Amino acid sequence: MKKDFTVPKEEIGGEILQKQEMRKQYLRLRDNLRLTDIRDKSKKIIEKLYAMPCYRQAKTVMMYIDFRNEVSTKAVLLKALHQGKKVVVPVTDTRARKLILSEIKDADRELRPGSYGILEPAKEFIREVSVDILDIIIVPGLVFDLRGYRIGYGGGYYDKLLQDINPNTKTIGLAFDFQIVDSLCIENFDRKVDVIITEERIISYEHAG
Ligand SMILES: Nc1ncnc2c1ncn2[C@@H]1O[C@H](COP(=O)(O)OP(=O)(O)OP(=O)(O)O)[C@@H](O)[C@H]1O
Ligand SMILES: [Mg+2]
Repeated sequence: MKKDFTVPKEEIGGEILQKQEMRKQYLRLRDNLRLTDIRDKSKKIIEKLYAMPCYRQAKTVMMYIDFRNEVSTKAVLLKALHQGKKVVVPVTDTRARKLILSEIKDADRELRPGSYGILEPAKEFIREVSVDILDIIIVPGLVFDLRGYRIGYGGGYYDKLLQDINPNTKTIGLAFDFQIVDSLCIENFDRKVDVIITEERIISYEHAG
């Protein structure tokens, strides 16, 4: 079966695209997704997440709130709250160029568009928590490679966050399968995730170096 998101190598222009080019290319590809595809594939991805023992057992889960055709996390957020998990979402501190971690209790009431138009808790609902309490971090990305490295929007926000986590925190990237490439050019501050879930596969690096 033909994969509708697959882009022939020659169309993405050569063997190794630099980060900035990759970002542009994959943003454009993702912007062109159909809403029905985003919904259907997100559902498959989320079902795989729900089946993972580490997710089921997690008491505290941090997750991004989807933006611009990212894998949808809205259902995960609502369900996690309903299940009694502690749910933490990022608030972008553009001045310090870091993510503030905030516990969310009521998604309908507390969120409003913040930096870059991404939904985040309004000021009065920010309940800052420490990175140490996170069992799981659900990480967004524009492109991931088979080692778990990623390219995001280019702020280094997740690189900084992932640098500070404790070794017991499991990091899970969510992506559509077309966003997986063999190997990305990375820099020394880039951090990788432990697992990537796509609508087609689970790629795990737990035992990789
Ligand atoms: N741990 C860090 N401490 C300080 N600066 C960092 C750190 N990690 C990354 N940066 C800075 O962030 C900038 C952007 O990094 P990069 O291009 O890897 O973004 P990205 O991984 O796409 O973004 P994000 O992590 O927000 O998804 C880099 O210029 C780098 O200097
Ligand atoms: Mg990076």
